[in-house]
Amino acid sequence: MSFDHRKYRPFSPIGKRDRRWPDQVIEKAPLWCAVDLRDGNQALVKPMNVDQKQQMFDLLVKLGFKEIEIGFPAASQPDFDFCRRLIEEGRIPDDVRVQVLTQARPELIERTFEALKGAKQAIVHLYNSTSTVQRQQVFKLDKAGIRDIAVRGAELVKALATKEPGVEWTFQYSPESFTGTELDYAVEVIDAVNAVWQPQNGQRVIINLPATVEMATPNVFADQVEWVCDHMQHRAHIEISVHTHNDRGCGVAAAELAVMAGADRVEGTLLGNGERTGNMDLVTMAMNLYSQGIDPELDLSGMAEITDVVERCTEISTHPRHPYAGDLVFTAFSGSHQDAIRKCLAQYRPGDAWQVAYLPIDPADLGRRYEEVVRINSQSGKGGVAHVLERDYKISLPRWLQIEFSKVVQQEAEQTGGEINSLEIHRLFEQHYLAVPQGWRLKSYDLHRTDEGVQAQAEFGEGASISAVRGQGQGAVEALAEALERRQGITLSVDAYEEFALGEGTNANALACIRLKIGGRSFTAGALAEDTTSATLQALLSAVGRHAALAPARTQSIVESAVG
Ligand code: KIV
Ligand code: ZN
Repeated sequence: MSFDHRKYRPFSPIGKRDRRWPDQVIEKAPLWCAVDLRDGNQALVKPMNVDQKQQMFDLLVKLGFKEIEIGFPAASQPDFDFCRRLIEEGRIPDDVRVQVLTQARPELIERTFEALKGAKQAIVHLYNSTSTVQRQQVFKLDKAGIRDIAVRGAELVKALATKEPGVEWTFQYSPESFTGTELDYAVEVIDAVNAVWQPQNGQRVIINLPATVEMATPNVFADQVEWVCDHMQHRAHIEISVHTHNDRGCGVAAAELAVMAGADRVEGTLLGNGERTGNMDLVTMAMNLYSQGIDPELDLSGMAEITDVVERCTEISTHPRHPYAGDLVFTAFSGSHQDAIRKCLAQYRPGDAWQVAYLPIDPADLGRRYEEVVRINSQSGKGGVAHVLERDYKISLPRWLQIEFSKVVQQEAEQTGGEINSLEIHRLFEQHYLAVPQGWRLKSYDLHRTDEGVQAQAEFGEGASISAVRGQGQGAVEALAEALERRQGITLSVDAYEEFALGEGTNANALACIRLKIGGRSFTAGALAEDTTSATLQALLSAVGRHAALAPARTQSIVESAVG
């Protein structure tokens, strides 16, 4: 059997009795470090060329990143060249620190310092693998042997930095594969590195704890981070950074819980590009903070530009459901969701606290349009269809017509099997309700109020074929209805009727909608006109005309008798 879970062992719990992180609340953005140009780039099918790297770097600067890992210059000539270009061409803003990665091997460390010559400030990021699996199977060294690699690397970093006093140096150390490392041993190595770097004497030091492979639930990672913070020396003088990967799909959650557990800094990439399932997604984590009312200290308002640049540089498209960034993440297709969104948006006033059902943040904050929020397919209901007509055509429908029309739209969506766009919705509305049946266009009318009620005269038709009718009733509708009943030889009742003044942005000023019952069947029509009376009379004529279209022969024979 190849699909056999017994092949795997569960991750051993930390057994931390004094954990405090579950009660912590994140109230401030961590320090961010973007590693798109190093970890992200290393994971690409086609690594970025210089032009793409420059675009990515410029975007990261524009978004507000102050620490950017630009490459692994000792391992890659393009990374070396890019690092030189940034420094020599003065492309690094004064408030931005570039970071470069190096393995703890002397020749690589030396080459790394060559790459950084002339920088104003830089972070040298030293790493070696510390996990049990790597020690035993990859390096075949014991704990002391692995610790010595880190210590010798730290010593060389310090020595080479001392030779370049003009650069403001930050030293960073990562016990790579930290999540697979015994905690007491991780602390032993970290302390040994810090014994060389002496953060307590003013050297800026970052200890980065990587979930190189995400091996357990995020709470376990938080326990690991808190444990290290509690047991390491000189904690107060050291910045704790986390660098999570997404193997179990929890890269963001792990980083968030790690911040609760004491991490000061978070490394990740835009939209989560990185090895295997990716790095921690900086966009999601920053926007999660934003949605809690916390300043993420990054400007992500131009989300379209972010996805555009990331897609161009990584040649990976953004998933339409990617949190905050995907095409569909602010869209509701489901009827009940659309209804709730429509009602909440109608009540929302700029300056209010955001409280809109189904929308955790205001799409407008990320440059998204409300137009995208409600889209129509066969799952949509009356609320969504009404919302689109209102939003795009300023046409508000009465509830009974919303129900009726949404069935028309749903039927169309079921037939086409896809989305019905706003233009198509309007076309369906015109076709089913506003279109005037041949021969039933209102030409003129005259209403006359007497003691007995209202007398109505109306002319309708096209070209030479104009009909004239006259009737009487309590109001205009009843008077014209009475005339039409006689003309057509029918009995009709007005089942539903509504007229509205229309919002700005339409050619007409009024919309009238009417549903008649004739011979046990319903006939609905709407009409747009400059005034409500014209709209009402036209809607009535159109509804009767629809009935007539079903029974033309009978209508013909009694046409003349209606003018009385
Ligand atoms: O995932 C990882 O462990 C890394 C380190 C080099 C920090 O990318
Ligand atoms: Zn990584």
